[in-house]
Amino acid sequence: MFCEEEYGMARSGSRGIEDGAGGKTRFDDIYDRPDPRVYFSRLAPLEYEIPHHAQPVFRRVAAERAALDDGRPHRPAVLDVCCSYGINAALLNHDITLAEMYERYTSPARQTMPTAELAARDKEFYAERRRPDAVPVFGLDVSAPAVHYALEVGLLDAAFTDDLEQGSPSTGLSRALAEVGLITLTGGGSYITARTFAALLDGARRPVWVSAFVLRTVSYHPIVQTLTAHGLRTTVEVSRTYPQRLFTDERERQFAIAAVRALGGDPTGCEENGRFHSLHYESRPDTR
Ligand SMILES: C[S@@+](CC[C@H](N)C(=O)[O-])C[C@H]1O[C@@H](n2cnc3c(N)ncnc32)[C@H](O)[C@@H]1O
Repeated sequence: MFCEEEYGMARSGSRGIEDGAGGKTRFDDIYDRPDPRVYFSRLAPLEYEIPHHAQPVFRRVAAERAALDDGRPHRPAVLDVCCSYGINAALLNHDITLAEMYERYTSPARQTMPTAELAARDKEFYAERRRPDAVPVFGLDVSAPAVHYALEVGLLDAAFTDDLEQGSPSTGLSRALAEVGLITLTGGGSYITARTFAALLDGARRPVWVSAFVLRTVSYHPIVQTLTAHGLRTTVEVSRTYPQRLFTDERERQFAIAAVRALGGDPTGCEENGRFHSLHYESRPDTR
């Protein structure tokens, strides 16, 4: 059950002890490789799993958004922000699980394969698993190699590397934003702020919904305020948390426990047990 009051509970507390990536271990070196193998190999021992939890939610929300007649001839596109190698696009539009992606990209047989060969095989692999209800997906990520891979293997219909934390949307992204009806996000809540969302929503031309999984260590409140200013109402089910990944070490665990508490949350049974947890926020046009 979603309700606005629950969002109110989620935002109680202060702004948190640190903004952005803060005391989280950084993984910058795995975001800009020519293919996803290092990404999956590094994250496998940490059991990074948030795209798996997002998969059924994004499928449901994308179907509901596609069913909404907004008076435009073409189906609305999904824009996956912080899309990296197109993982959410793969899970949304293909009969595949995150576990199968881990297996594929960490398999010893594929470790020595040139990227071009892996990409050619991936293109066939995903084409064979394409779902009949597949929706157009655009990707936004500052990593050019990652989005290039996702485009090449057919996971994304268009990709953009604009850093909206630093500047305005390019002409290409502005054109694409006119087609977007749903924005999705996993694993990016520590990297982007309300600034990125404001730029995206300023460029929207159709009703845009937002479905975002954000760590409990990060305040989503500034983004909610921006979404509200653009006519969207945000709901969150605070009692339902989604495990994101294991902590890299005790220092990260202590950081997360303190950050969750500082935002008014209770780390008991969640972060205290060794993993980051996320909340799912959903925003839709406020029709009240
Ligand atoms: C933890 S990864 C998440 C990837 C994917 N969504 C997932 O859950 O597996 C975070 C991604 O955010 C991207 N990123 C960092 N800063 C960004 C920004 N300002 N705008 C867009 N993407 C950004 C990184 O390049 C990286 O690919």
